[in-house]
Amino acid sequence: MSDKLDNIRNRVISCVNCSLSKSRVNAVPGDGDKNSDVIFVGEAPGRNEDLKGKPFVGAAGQILSEALEYAGFERDHVYITNVVKCRPPDNRQPLAEERTACKPYLSEELEIIKPKIICILGNTAYNSLLDGHAIIKNRGKIVKNNGQLYFVTVHPAAVIYNPGLRQVLKDDFVLLAKSLDKLRKGFDVEISQ
Ligand code: URA
Ligand code: SF4
Repeated sequence: MSDKLDNIRNRVISCVNCSLSKSRVNAVPGDGDKNSDVIFVGEAPGRNEDLKGKPFVGAAGQILSEALEYAGFERDHVYITNVVKCRPPDNRQPLAEERTACKPYLSEELEIIKPKIICILGNTAYNSLLDGHAIIKNRGKIVKNNGQLYFVTVHPAAVIYNPGLRQVLKDDFVLLAKSLDKLRKGFDVEISQ
């Protein structure tokens, strides 16, 4: 199992499939517990992630960790990744062609880990995985697409610009944890749409 994730990791680290490979310091493969039944998907690495080669280790990562802990998740026991594995210059949003070039890695991660639920963090992941828009209206919900469950919430970095979202993210993670608990016990969860 982990062999397959290691294989992805190795390919990501040396990937030159899009032009972000030219400006990065390090590519940032997904990280965490391969046995996790939830995967958190962000947008793309920022400066700290680029320097360290690990996802969510900067300011947004701090907020993510805090919200995970609040909801009773152990960060080491979940799997965290991004739509795009290399930092876009100046933290701009990843372009459509960059997202397309990088998509196979995310698809493989999801295929290997087979999470019960995928937690979408913010608009880029929402758009890439579910063709969604306006996360702020749709957050806090579970959506089913092609047999896969998704939980939709705001991006931790949004909290930096809008402090009111800090508690929103935490409360959403509590909802996610409760839903996961139900799924683990074989109960149904309420699905939107
Ligand atoms: N923002 C993201 O979307 N991903 C990271 O890894 C860090 C910040
Ligand atoms: Fe490869 Fe993705 Fe990095 Fe582009 S962003 S170089 S596709 S790993």
